Amino acid sequence: MKITIPPHIATLRGYQPGKPIEQLIQENNWERYAILWNNENPLGSSPKAKEAVTNAFDGSNFYPDPLSLELRQALANKLGKKVENIVVGNGSEGLLMNILKAFCYGDDELLTSSGSFVIIYIWSKICGIPVKQIPLTTDYRYDMEGLKANITEKTKVIYLCNINNPTGAMITREELEDFMRFVPEHVLVIVDEAYFEFSASLHDDFPDSITMGYDNIITLRTFSKAYGIAAARIGYAIAHKDLIKPLLNVSLTFEPSNLAQAAGLGALTDDEFLQRTLDNNKKGIQYFYKEFHRLGLKYIPSFGNFVMIDCGTAERVQEIVDYLKARGVFVRPLNSSGLPHCLRISVGRQEENQYCVEVLEMEAQEAKKGV
Ligand SMILES: Cc1ncc(COP(=O)(O)O)c(C=O)c1O
Repeated sequence: MKITIPPHIATLRGYQPGKPIEQLIQENNWERYAILWNNENPLGSSPKAKEAVTNAFDGSNFYPDPLSLELRQALANKLGKKVENIVVGNGSEGLLMNILKAFCYGDDELLTSSGSFVIIYIWSKICGIPVKQIPLTTDYRYDMEGLKANITEKTKVIYLCNINNPTGAMITREELEDFMRFVPEHVLVIVDEAYFEFSASLHDDFPDSITMGYDNIITLRTFSKAYGIAAARIGYAIAHKDLIKPLLNVSLTFEPSNLAQAAGLGALTDDEFLQRTLDNNKKGIQYFYKEFHRLGLKYIPSFGNFVMIDCGTAERVQEIVDYLKARGVFVRPLNSSGLPHCLRISVGRQEENQYCVEVLEMEAQEAKKGV
């Protein structure tokens, strides 16, 4: 091959997808299994989203509305904002990439925490943006004072993941307000609230960054999690209109698809599905805490739909993950997030959670015996 690949692309270790689950299930003939590795919705998808997608398919010979006005209006109504404050995209990941494209150039740097959402490191690298990572605190939280101390004249964007994936920890209202008072107005702060619905249902005073009144915040949210339409690829950003405009400028001409826009519109009306999802999650989190405590596992309290466990060493993580996977229980090792001694378990349906705990207990007993 004579074509040279830029070194920052050639050396990229992108998201590592596994084999499709359906294939693994077919190959292994498991009677019981639990898919708890991607923080997906274990109850399926919003039925109203499904109906809306089915109805929208008939118009698929035409390109979709490039401004996604109907969905943006519906979101604006729901959030008490104007259409000009909302942009939708190919998942919140698509918007994250668009933010980097739209706002960073020259020597601009991105400031964030280590041990956070792995995609931010990958996209920054692809876009050639230097990233300064501040270590997490010893209790796996964003070090807000450390971030403050590291803002320089080169800092263009700060990425805050609230709650943090994969640790599940929250930046509290007090911390976020204090941080925003400190950040200069010319520095853009991305607050990634992919798990907002779960967090708000688990904590009465979860900080909603769209109500804080800062013109330099872009808030990211998604339909992938609480509404169960991860495959449809639809997310949204909320910000001052002058920040939304450049995001519209850099988006693909027809992003997102008509089916994704319809899915979002349908999902937004599905309060029943959302409530069922949040109820299942609340019960699942409490169940995991109780069982992890009983098994002596060191878990980090979570404000989302997943729980991180500190297993002590990377070797122990590998042993547990392999044991579970061989029995149809899929959880996420966190080496690519810079936390090789930890793993993350998403909340599933109660039968999945129970099966996961059973297999964790079997593994612990065998490890103890030295099998
Ligand atoms: C913190 C965070 N942000 C963004 C995303 C991406 O979500 P989407 O499916 O909307 O691209 C995820 C997905 O896991 C996430 O955990």
